[in-house]
Amino acid sequence: MSQVLQAIKKLTQRDLRILTVIERGMINHLYVPFEQIVAYSGFSEKKTLKILKKLNEMGLVQRQKTPYTGYILTSWGYDCLGLNALYKSGVLVSISPTPIGVGKESDVYLGLTPSNKKVAVKIHRSGRISFRKSKKKRLYLVDKRHISWLYRSRLSAKNEYEALRRLYPLNFPVPSPISWNRHIVITDYYEGIELFKKPSLNRPKIILDEIIYTIVNIFKKGKIVHGDLSEYNIMILIDNEDMKKFMIFDWPQWIDSSHLMALEYFKKDLLNILKFFKRKYISDLKIEYEINIILDKLT
Ligand SMILES: Nc1ncnc2c1ncn2[C@@H]1O[C@H](COP(=O)(O)OP(=O)(O)OP(=O)(O)O)[C@@H](O)[C@H]1O
Ligand SMILES: [Mg+2]
Repeated sequence: MSQVLQAIKKLTQRDLRILTVIERGMINHLYVPFEQIVAYSGFSEKKTLKILKKLNEMGLVQRQKTPYTGYILTSWGYDCLGLNALYKSGVLVSISPTPIGVGKESDVYLGLTPSNKKVAVKIHRSGRISFRKSKKKRLYLVDKRHISWLYRSRLSAKNEYEALRRLYPLNFPVPSPISWNRHIVITDYYEGIELFKKPSLNRPKIILDEIIYTIVNIFKKGKIVHGDLSEYNIMILIDNEDMKKFMIFDWPQWIDSSHLMALEYFKKDLLNILKFFKRKYISDLKIEYEINIILDKLT
C-alpha cells in the first residue's frame, strides 16, 4: 500500500484523467488501445505517451506491445482511483500503510476522516491469487483475469455496502456504512478480538444465544442471509457506545432471505457457529436439537 500512497501524492489531474480513460476503456477492451486513450483523453499523442510512461513506471498501468499497443490498470492503479475519489469527496484524509486485517478476498486498513475519526477501509480483491500468478501466463489469459478481477472486486464492495445499508439502520450489529467507491468500502472502525482469536469467553452460552437471535432476526427483519458466517467474521467488542457486544463482518456474499438457497445458506452459517461453540466452549451442546428449534423460529 505504501507504493499506492506515494503514487497518489505524485498524481496530477492529467495522470488521473488517463487512469480514468483506461478504466472506462476496460469495459469493452482487454487492453485499451493507445489510440483510444489519446482520443478520449483529449491530449496529444506525445503528452499521452509521456503520462503513460510515468504511470507504467509507478506500476499503476501495464502495457502490452502485440498484437497492438494497449494498456490496462493494475490493482495499484485501481486503488489510486478509488482512494483518490474518497479523498476528494471528503470521506478520507489518510490511510495506514499496512493493513489491520488481511482476508482471502480483501485487505482492511485503518483510515482517518477530516474530523480525525478512525474508520475501516476495506479494499476488496476478488480473485487476486490468479491476478498475482497471472504475470507468467499467456497474455490472453492474463487479460481476462485482469478484467474480471476489477469488476468482481467492485461488485463485491457494492454488495457489501448494500447489505450494511440495509442492516445497520435496523440496529443490527454490523459495521456502520460511511461510503464506498469502486472496490473500497468505508465503515466505522471497531475495537475488539475476533471470536476465533479469543482465548476465553465470559458466559459463552449467552453470547451464542445472542448471535443466534441476531441472525434469526437478520433473516426475518433484515431479509438477509450472511452466507459466510463463522468464528472468523464475528468480533467480540471492547466497550462501545452502542452497548453492542459483538460485530458481524464480511457481507459481500449475502443473499436475500427469499432466495431459493436462502435456507440452505442459513443452515450452513448456523452450523458453523454451533460447531465452533461446541468445540471450544459448550461440549454438551446438542447441535441437531438446536438447529431444529432455531429453524422453527424462522417460519
Ligand atoms: N470496521 C472494522 N473495524 C475493525 N476491524 C475491522 C473492520 N472491518 C474489518 N476489520 C478487520 O479486518 C478483518 C477482515 O475483514 P472482513 O472479514 O470484512 O474481510 P475478509 O475476511 O478479508 O473477507 P473474506 O472473508 O471475503 O476474505 C476482520 O476480521 C477484522 O479483524
Ligand atoms: Mg473475514
